[in-house]
Amino acid sequence: MTVSVLESEVAREPSYCFQASVDNVGPQIVGGKGVRIDVEKDGKIYQNILDGITGAAVGALGWKDEEIFEVVNKAVRESTYSYAPLISNKASEELAKFYIDNSPKGVFSAALWLTSGSESNENALRIIRQYYLERGLPEKVKLISRENSYHGFTLGALGISSNPRVEPYKPYIMDQESVALKMPCAYTYRFKKDSETEEGYAQRLLDILEKKILDNGPEKVAAVIVETLPGSSLGTTPPPKGYLKGIRHLCNKYDIIFYLDEVMCGTGRSNPNGKLNCWENFLDASEGPDIQTVGKTLGSGYVTIAGVLIGPKIKEAFVNGSNSINGGNTYSSHEFSCAVALGVQKKIARENLTANIFEMGNLLAAKLRQRLVPEDNIVGDVRGVGGFQSVEFVKNKETKEVFDPKLNIITRFKNICFENGLIIMGMPSNPDGSCGDRAIFAPSFIVTEADINEMVDIFVRSVNDFSKTLRQEGAW
Ligand SMILES: Cc1ncc(COP(=O)(O)O)c(C=O)c1O
Repeated sequence: MTVSVLESEVAREPSYCFQASVDNVGPQIVGGKGVRIDVEKDGKIYQNILDGITGAAVGALGWKDEEIFEVVNKAVRESTYSYAPLISNKASEELAKFYIDNSPKGVFSAALWLTSGSESNENALRIIRQYYLERGLPEKVKLISRENSYHGFTLGALGISSNPRVEPYKPYIMDQESVALKMPCAYTYRFKKDSETEEGYAQRLLDILEKKILDNGPEKVAAVIVETLPGSSLGTTPPPKGYLKGIRHLCNKYDIIFYLDEVMCGTGRSNPNGKLNCWENFLDASEGPDIQTVGKTLGSGYVTIAGVLIGPKIKEAFVNGSNSINGGNTYSSHEFSCAVALGVQKKIARENLTANIFEMGNLLAAKLRQRLVPEDNIVGDVRGVGGFQSVEFVKNKETKEVFDPKLNIITRFKNICFENGLIIMGMPSNPDGSCGDRAIFAPSFIVTEADINEMVDIFVRSVNDFSKTLRQEGAW
């Protein structure tokens, strides 16, 4: 990385954007190529920073991919905007077919393309409602999702989420006592008892879920919603063995929709077969979800696109019922975005990049685990699947006590990594101590072993320096 001091005062001007820190211009992206980005911050330009998180787990192809420039060029010339609920287009059909064909056979049979993960989860909720109305089951409305979860920042998505970010909006979201119910999260590092096996822990969680279904009446429960591999909410903690299979089984038993949110972990980020879905790590084709939301790497940051994938059971209920959907979103199935996303996905498939990121991500985790967990520092756990990995910080490795959020541990750590030439995502510990500060990695799929080694070296150095500082401060 190189750092140069800007001569202009541009970076110190007030901000006209209503986001992040409202009254000033925060760090700004000013360039990028492959796995590196350039950022302007506090009057300096930081060049060639290693990108460990690709925005928010978005970039799959790396930045400024020449082939995608051509795809974009062709797509913009060939596409004509139409309001898809009235007049559709060929690119959205092709992208849907691509996703269905590259998923285990028979799991998905249709897709709806939208512009964000939140909007996709909103639409999934509406699809669930209409599904039961089509079947003449208007009472089936309750949703069961998890504590410590994140499904987006729109009001419906916040309703099915549960984390400190949700609290202020409770007056405007679905009632979490009677409609958007919550079950415990699956968090093996923190909540599996020492006396339990992983399977035993999964069974305990499944028993709680089954009791919740029975207490509320299965005839009133519409869907069980989980992130296959939770991202920002818990830091890529994989489901305990048998957990997702057990949810699938309970959904079958009580006629409930099994709904996976793969907005952050899906579309190639953590697939073991060189394909798309994260759940293929844990479930067979016969156990796939009925509804799945996706986003982020679908457009790899080149276009704003996300979507809802729909299983045959759901589609058939619509076809056999009204065979129509009322309303829609202005930019749903946007032809240009679908064409670019298809180009991105075809390149990823052709170059086998999903297999690469699965291997490289697991290598990153193995190296971090080996160099950090047994040592005298603040790292409690390293976990994840393929290209989606997290490091959890704790005050005490034995008791897993978390740092007081007031210490701003993760913000300070993120800044150290940045100064050392690496970008990661940082999420703070929960005030109730139910989750520690997390550093999250989601590099682009083109990352090489040399890039991984560099990321590991910078990260380990940053952890060691920061641990020393915290010790001197008496915080650890
Ligand atoms: C699991 C999950 N679902 C939904 C969303 C919302 O996606 P978006 O920010 O594109 O609205 C996110 C965003 O991080 C996410 O991680």
